[in-house]
Amino acid sequence: MTARRILVTSALPYANGQIHIGHLVEYIQTDIWVRFQRMMGNEVYYVGADDTHGTPVMLRAEKEGITPKQLIDRVWAEHKRDFDSFLVSFDNYHSTDADENRQLCESFYLALKEQDLIAERDVEQFFDPVKSMFLPDRFIKGECPKCGAKDQYGDSCEVCGTTYSPTELKNPYSVVSGATPVRKTSTHYFFKLSDPRCERFLREWVAGLAQPEAANKMQEWLGSDGEASTLSDWDISRDAPYFGFEIPGAPGKFFYVWLDAPIGYYASLMNLCQRKGMDFASWVSPDSDAEQYHFIGKDILYFHTLFWPAMLKFSGHRTPTNVFAHGFLTVDGAKMSKSRGTFITAQSYIDTGMNPEWLRYYFAAKLNASMEDLDLNLDDFISRVNSDLVGKYVNIASRAAGFLVKRFDGKVDDTALGHPLLAQLRDAAPQVAQLYEAREYSKALRLVMELTDAVNAYVDTEKPWELARDENQRAALHAACSISLEAFRILTVYLKPVVPNVAAAVERFLNIAPLDWASVTRPLRSELPIQPYQHLMTRVDAKQIEALLAANRDSLQATAPQAQASGAAIEPVADTITIDDFAKVDLRVARIVACSKVEGSNKLLQLTLDLGEGKTRNVFSGIQSAYQPEQLVGKLTVVVANLAPRKMKFGLSEGMVLAASAADEKATPGLFILEPHEGAVPGMRIR
Ligand code: 2FM
Ligand code: ZN
Repeated sequence: MTARRILVTSALPYANGQIHIGHLVEYIQTDIWVRFQRMMGNEVYYVGADDTHGTPVMLRAEKEGITPKQLIDRVWAEHKRDFDSFLVSFDNYHSTDADENRQLCESFYLALKEQDLIAERDVEQFFDPVKSMFLPDRFIKGECPKCGAKDQYGDSCEVCGTTYSPTELKNPYSVVSGATPVRKTSTHYFFKLSDPRCERFLREWVAGLAQPEAANKMQEWLGSDGEASTLSDWDISRDAPYFGFEIPGAPGKFFYVWLDAPIGYYASLMNLCQRKGMDFASWVSPDSDAEQYHFIGKDILYFHTLFWPAMLKFSGHRTPTNVFAHGFLTVDGAKMSKSRGTFITAQSYIDTGMNPEWLRYYFAAKLNASMEDLDLNLDDFISRVNSDLVGKYVNIASRAAGFLVKRFDGKVDDTALGHPLLAQLRDAAPQVAQLYEAREYSKALRLVMELTDAVNAYVDTEKPWELARDENQRAALHAACSISLEAFRILTVYLKPVVPNVAAAVERFLNIAPLDWASVTRPLRSELPIQPYQHLMTRVDAKQIEALLAANRDSLQATAPQAQASGAAIEPVADTITIDDFAKVDLRVARIVACSKVEGSNKLLQLTLDLGEGKTRNVFSGIQSAYQPEQLVGKLTVVVANLAPRKMKFGLSEGMVLAASAADEKATPGLFILEPHEGAVPGMRIR
């Protein structure tokens, strides 16, 4: 059989966030498939990259006071570290902000233009007049046009679930500057997906989709044949300022991030080909004999089953062989949540000392070829890993290897290896392979665990520990241990795509070459004695799960560095008030004209304040522990101006100065008065 040539991708993660276990479902799913294909002897390349462009990266870099390039370089290294930790075996991990990608984006675009599939059209959008930039939907907030809920995003309401366009929001504001956005028109470039050629092509292409759910979605988008297509043209440009690639011949216009992201798959492949001296064209040209698969989440099906194949087709490339979408991850039946600590980052998992192969095994045990959501049930995680992987599988080796090394110099009995149990195990190879190929990992592992049960049943019947007590049973002991270990070796072949590190340790201990699928039929041999057994995998301890959840709950509080540093808890936020409640409090900027200690008090300072009222006010404030009077004179601060005057032992206090402090001042000492930014003047109201 000739080797298949296969290109595989996973969705490119955004360069503005950390890898979490939700992402890992996909990378682990893809990696298992890729490792399986490698074991089959196919020529497979798994390429990835960071998805670096767009407004969120640009704004985040600005906020951190670094360049977008500095940000994406840092995040790239973090992502790479996380993928390596989880044994995600990319053949190349690149970036969409790379020369190869710029070159490919330009050539895709020019080819589509050549085909008359690019249109120019004026678009009216919200524009932030303070930041001088057009605002993506997610950067506009306002009141929901349906239910009136405040602070809703420009595309949908989180309260009532309505979707709408940002121009329908009431009282919209820019999330970037707070300014009221204005409508502004600008020329945009469109990929003409509504062109009959695209529709015709997509109708054909959809027939090859492997997942019925995906094909149904496509049919919905395409409408039934004969009816007018419901596809609309796709806006592929964004105006400056934008972090991305400028469109050739269109100064100030940039490719929308979703155009350059999938092309980033090819950029990563191109980079790999250049490094390895491979022929890029033989993978991407229309007559390529290679297969091309994209593993994605179901939320980005639209981009991968409409835009991407059409872009490929009409820019003169081959089209994807298939797109494999998976569902979302829940933890203990609910959406991942920061407050519960179930928004688990890849790094926290590793830092807690947990074994990445536990998670790989668990996800594999739950994954199938459908788009159904997948639940990480933490109790089930502990029990499956401990009882199946460690209790059933690893246990076989630990039971058999000791006797073989101590009593038989580590040499198997070659004559015993024709046993029917081993034939049963070997005969399962095509079926296990077919299940991996079809991405039915849960079924594959169920089958492997049934075989594992059969091996354990054999060991329980043979009772090597009893045979070992009787010198007359030496041959029987030798056979039983040899058969058990050979069975263990075959099971390791079947589990290797899922737990590659364990498999590598097994290869070392059995003193054999790296296992591939064909090695199922190449038994252990007495000429190559095995090494003493070393423990292959520990059990999950429930305490580790507790620590993991705590670590992820903690990372939320890292936003409060003071309290975090001292270990003190944040005071709970008070009951919700309405804007009208807040409006009752009249806060004003005040200048501290004079300040002195109060005779007879070790707590109070006496302040003379100018609130721009043409007269000063006298205020007593309990801040003596934190400030020397002369430190404050001349400074601006914030005062509650309409607090009822209070008669004190030392005189009348006509207001209150605002200061921050921790709930537990002993644990977190310190008292900090508020000071407005430069430019504020006495009398200004704070609202
Ligand atoms: O949804 C996402 O996370 C995107 N960054 C995926 C891009 S996949 C591909 F098209 F590049
Ligand atoms: Zn609403």
